[in-house]
Amino acid sequence: MGVLVSPAFSDFVGYEVRVLTVTIRIARSNGEQAFVVETLAQQTVLDALFYIQNELEPSLSFRCSCRVGMCGSCGMVINGKESLACRTSLNPLGAEVTVQPLRHIPVIKDLVVDMEGFFSKYRLVDPYLKPRPGLVNPIVAPPSGHLREEIDLGLECISCGLCLSACDVVGMVPEFLGPAALNRAYNLVADVRDDLAEQRLSMVGQSRVGVWQCHTHMSCVEVCPKNIAPTRAISHLKRTLIRRRITGHRPRPMPKVQRIVQEEV
Ligand code: SF4
Ligand code: FES
Repeated sequence: MGVLVSPAFSDFVGYEVRVLTVTIRIARSNGEQAFVVETLAQQTVLDALFYIQNELEPSLSFRCSCRVGMCGSCGMVINGKESLACRTSLNPLGAEVTVQPLRHIPVIKDLVVDMEGFFSKYRLVDPYLKPRPGLVNPIVAPPSGHLREEIDLGLECISCGLCLSACDVVGMVPEFLGPAALNRAYNLVADVRDDLAEQRLSMVGQSRVGVWQCHTHMSCVEVCPKNIAPTRAISHLKRTLIRRRITGHRPRPMPKVQRIVQEEV
């Protein structure tokens, strides 16, 4: 049995020290491997993985960077649910914890997956703002203004890939752009500073890869660590495409957002 507990923790006065014994079953490239560790209730799955790597199995591979839920690199499937290892406490998980690599993404080794496919889907929707000609200030969107209301809802994506892994449709139709790329596309379509709405809409409207593949299962919404709702973004894109087909016109941005841009120009 490995022991993850640091004695230094017990020196803190008033700090609740509760030790758990947990069996961690890791889906490795060469098969499942189980490790028994003792941990503090407050420790995370990432802490346990570091302990296993440092003390028990140096060849265990996983990815992480910030350890505070900001970089998106420690995504994995923990007890069957897509999660960030650095934000997942061991305490509520029980005595048996399973850890698997993200789904629908090729595995490089153990828990390390190849995110190139995920980012290539991002690239298909041109994920960067292309300023419309004539804007006085094409970069600034005042945080307090109406301009931000719509796009703020989907802006905090950390590209962790949890939503792609949780998406049933990606499992059936690998070409489907998936929740993160479509959320990014909608963010830019809804941003009236952007000049590429037509191109983005034409990409996301394609039958095999685009929004029509989404069955609104909401799995992406359930796992997103940033409380983004890609399903909402996809629904807005569908409505915009339908409106465009009916009217034959370039889709108009949200009315309130349009007003702010007119003031800025
Ligand atoms: S939308 Fe959420 S789950 Fe998907 S990549 Fe962005 S942060 Fe991760
Ligand atoms: S290590 Fe950065 S999000 Fe977990």
